[in-house]
Amino acid sequence: MLHIQEEASRCLLCAEAPCSKACKNGDPARAIRAIRFGNERLAGRWVAQCTHEELEAAERACIHYDRPIRIKELVAPFAAAPTAAEEGLPSLAIDFCGIHCENPFFLASSAVCTNYDMVARAFDMGWGGVFYKTICMQEIKEVSPRFDALQEGGRSDFSGFRNMEQLSENPHEVDFAILRHLKENYPTKVVVASIMGQFEEDWIELAQLAEKAGCDAVELNFSCPQMRLAGMGSDVGQDAELVLCYTAYVKRSVSIPVIPKMTPNITQMVRPALACFFADADAISAINTIKSVTMGSRAEVSGRRTISGLSGRAVKPIALRFILEMAQNAVLMGSHGKKVELSGIGGIETWRDALEFIQLGCRNVQVCTAVMQYGYRIIDDLVLGLQHYMAERGCGSLADLVGEELPSFVTPTDLDRDTIVYPKIDRERCIGCGRCYTSCMDGGHQAISFEAATRQPRILGKKCVGCHLCRLVCPTGAIDVTRRIAKRI
Ligand SMILES: Cc1cc2nc3c(=O)[nH]c(=O)nc-3n(C[C@H](O)[C@H](O)[C@H](O)COP(=O)(O)O)c2cc1C
Ligand code: SF4
Ligand code: SF4
Repeated sequence: MLHIQEEASRCLLCAEAPCSKACKNGDPARAIRAIRFGNERLAGRWVAQCTHEELEAAERACIHYDRPIRIKELVAPFAAAPTAAEEGLPSLAIDFCGIHCENPFFLASSAVCTNYDMVARAFDMGWGGVFYKTICMQEIKEVSPRFDALQEGGRSDFSGFRNMEQLSENPHEVDFAILRHLKENYPTKVVVASIMGQFEEDWIELAQLAEKAGCDAVELNFSCPQMRLAGMGSDVGQDAELVLCYTAYVKRSVSIPVIPKMTPNITQMVRPALACFFADADAISAINTIKSVTMGSRAEVSGRRTISGLSGRAVKPIALRFILEMAQNAVLMGSHGKKVELSGIGGIETWRDALEFIQLGCRNVQVCTAVMQYGYRIIDDLVLGLQHYMAERGCGSLADLVGEELPSFVTPTDLDRDTIVYPKIDRERCIGCGRCYTSCMDGGHQAISFEAATRQPRILGKKCVGCHLCRLVCPTGAIDVTRRIAKRI
């Protein structure tokens, strides 16, 4: 049995993929990418015309350093499946801060958008807008190396990513000229200037320059953990009074929307978020990177280390928590007749990740680390996946999904504590590895027995508390659930 996601995640996502070059009537590399980025059901369209021989040739051409990707087996089920309709897919257009966006997917202010050509290429490939790399008045000198990554099991994929980068190294005049140019050449795309001042005058001047350059909005970076000059960086974002003052100065100085970007290096993000609200901010972006430490030589600069920001897949649940708390806050959600909108950031790689942020109240999402790893091309699967999801649900407007999952959240005490769902083992899928047994013995309630001779795990109903640790560790998905029933007293 081939584990589709596991095999697809072995694919190196090669540039100019040799497998596809060996295949005249299809694009297996694109099909694998679709599987990898959550569009497995659409993968067939890129291999439907391929013959068996062509897929064999593609597999032979694979340059994987260990062993070729099992392309035939991987894509065959999808090649045979009917391809979903392409016509009449819903539009992903949505208004954010009163600005029309062709889709909600924006580049996050970072290394993925530091010059004209990069952003232009991203726009050409379908990104809806950019929060351009943060512009400041200070001279910035970056360190080398400046990144580290958490990589599991020798994989090149990042489960977390750590950066020591500060702000744009360009003089601010150069960056504003780039933004003007971008807006002139891409009038339908949304261009947001991210700025960081040290004093009141800097914030005002940078915001006014952004407005003059034709930017659609300005993002206030209160949250870079690598900036430690007095009055700059994530320490500002922890201080609701400073956040209020700087947001208010900028709001009074420009008429374009103002979007403060929050730091996650704080217990209660709602406090600075409320300060932004009182200063009349139009939206809030969250999150910036999380202060972190990694050891090892990759994190060293000339033998010394520093605390710096973590991003990527690992931070998504933390980002979602902050978004949820801000969205839940009744004041933010629209008393006084004004709604502060949310732009969600943190670990977004697939359309499903983006959907989670949208369902918790975001009208806009931003991506950095996934682009740094996989390139701008991930926009294809972000757009396609979300469009198909909406089509399947019969949803005509993305705005209808915004915040739809908020009512499902309650406090921990309000969760149902009177019923239980028992796990059940599918004997067909069980390979007898015993992972469920080990975990239940040492991390659960000793509710699984394992017979060495038959290699069969068995759930002991009397001891099982329904925690579902076994289901999470099972590598083959052999553990499913039974019906929810009342707990025995
Ligand atoms: C290399 C790098 C540089 C960044 N530079 C900035 C920046 O200049 N301004 C900013 O507001 N955020 C910056 N960020 C934070 C990102 O915009 C984003 O908030 C964070 O990485 C979380 O999103 P992700 O998980 O998609 O990467 C940077 C992140 C990285 C990895
Ligand atoms: S050549 Fe192999 S590793 Fe590279 S994209 Fe094709 S299947 Fe993936
Ligand atoms: S973890 Fe899954 S595959 Fe392994 S023994 Fe348990 S049920 Fe079977």
